[in-house]
Amino acid sequence: MQVPCWKLLHGYAIYCPAKLRGRENAMRIDKRKVALVGCGMVGMSYAYCLLNQTVCDELVLIDINQKRAMGEAMDLNHGLAFAPANMEIYAGSYKDCRDADMVVICAGVAQKPGESRLALLKRNAQVFRSIIEPVTQSGFNGIFLVATNPVDIMTRITCELSGFNPGRVLGSGTALDTARLRYLLGEYLQVDPKNVHAYVMGEHGDSEFVPWSQAMVATIPILKLCGDVKRNFAENRTGEPVESQAGISVENRIGNSAAIQDGKGMTQQSAGISRPKLLEIAEQVKGAAYEIIDAKQATYYGIGMAMTRITRAVLGDENSVLTVSAMLKGEYGQRDVFAGVPCVINGNGIRRVLELSLTEEELEQFAASCRTLRESFEGVL
Ligand SMILES: NC(=O)c1ccc[n+]([C@@H]2O[C@H](COP(=O)([O-])OP(=O)(O)OC[C@H]3O[C@@H](n4cnc5c(N)ncnc54)[C@H](O)[C@@H]3O)[C@@H](O)[C@H]2O)c1
Repeated sequence: MQVPCWKLLHGYAIYCPAKLRGRENAMRIDKRKVALVGCGMVGMSYAYCLLNQTVCDELVLIDINQKRAMGEAMDLNHGLAFAPANMEIYAGSYKDCRDADMVVICAGVAQKPGESRLALLKRNAQVFRSIIEPVTQSGFNGIFLVATNPVDIMTRITCELSGFNPGRVLGSGTALDTARLRYLLGEYLQVDPKNVHAYVMGEHGDSEFVPWSQAMVATIPILKLCGDVKRNFAENRTGEPVESQAGISVENRIGNSAAIQDGKGMTQQSAGISRPKLLEIAEQVKGAAYEIIDAKQATYYGIGMAMTRITRAVLGDENSVLTVSAMLKGEYGQRDVFAGVPCVINGNGIRRVLELSLTEEELEQFAASCRTLRESFEGVL
């Protein structure tokens, strides 16, 4: 006789019909499994965030330093009693990637003193060979997410070495840079960063840029808040504040502007937004990693949270828009290069690359960034 029962899944008791018992894999509510390769600062910040946000049900930790992976698994498991839901966490091997939904790579070697960028890239490409081969041999058939720097190049290497469809290989790209931009704009405009819609595009690095023509607060273009949308943004790079905004308090920028509510007279009433300040923010975003590394040797919490957000979009089949490193196939006039672009992310990885209506100047900036990325990739594999 078949007796129905209750099982504990994702921390909740769920009804498990007798006919499905013992065939849990056949159920839609499969365990969400992540295999993490590289248990350093970035990898473990990500793992800690997964645990605290209950993003997956099973997490396997893999590192060349197996003892470290084991210690990290123990440490996380000791926090389970305080976590929002249960999770299976253990140190494992590449064989454990077989049934993973995602393999997330944060493994890498640091630059040696005097080592060239290309030499470092070649060493990291070797590290990736030692990872991608056993992962694919395990039978893994999920989504790759890469964080190792230079992330756009390492994502391309992952795609080439795995032979996977590029839609299933994504890098963290400019997801973190975009979060930094929204945070800084939110601070400046006194608006919740979640209501700031702006992207950093291109290389996760020095050639990245902000397409200001696409930056919005709610549905209001930020350039409109500066006054003159039509003027070429580059004209103001070193210029004085464009409008009469100098000296206007932060409170007056957006917070109390009636113009925001009725959408009229915005250029006059919310003239607290200065273009030079926006460019300064873009530079701050670009320099953020250098500043943090100078202060505390490495950056890891922000990237850990950005990767958790991407993981959630994949495992939750969300169709969320995030700026990941994706292979371009003609979008923005570019192809055969991985670069940070806004993409629709779901359970299949990258469902599509969104093509924003960039200005000529922004398209040129994007092309220059892609050129840098192509040049960096040359001679690596
Ligand atoms: N994409 C981003 O926005 C972003 C942000 C911050 C850092 N990063 C990058 O993330 C990477 C990791 O940074 P970190 O601070 O965690 O470094 P880390 O040195 O703390 O950790 C690297 C880990 O990789 C492991 N590893 C090395 N070779 C390996 C191999 N062959 N197989 C398996 N594991 C191996 C090491 O044992 C170590 O645990 C770096 O490349 C860093 O530049 C990216």
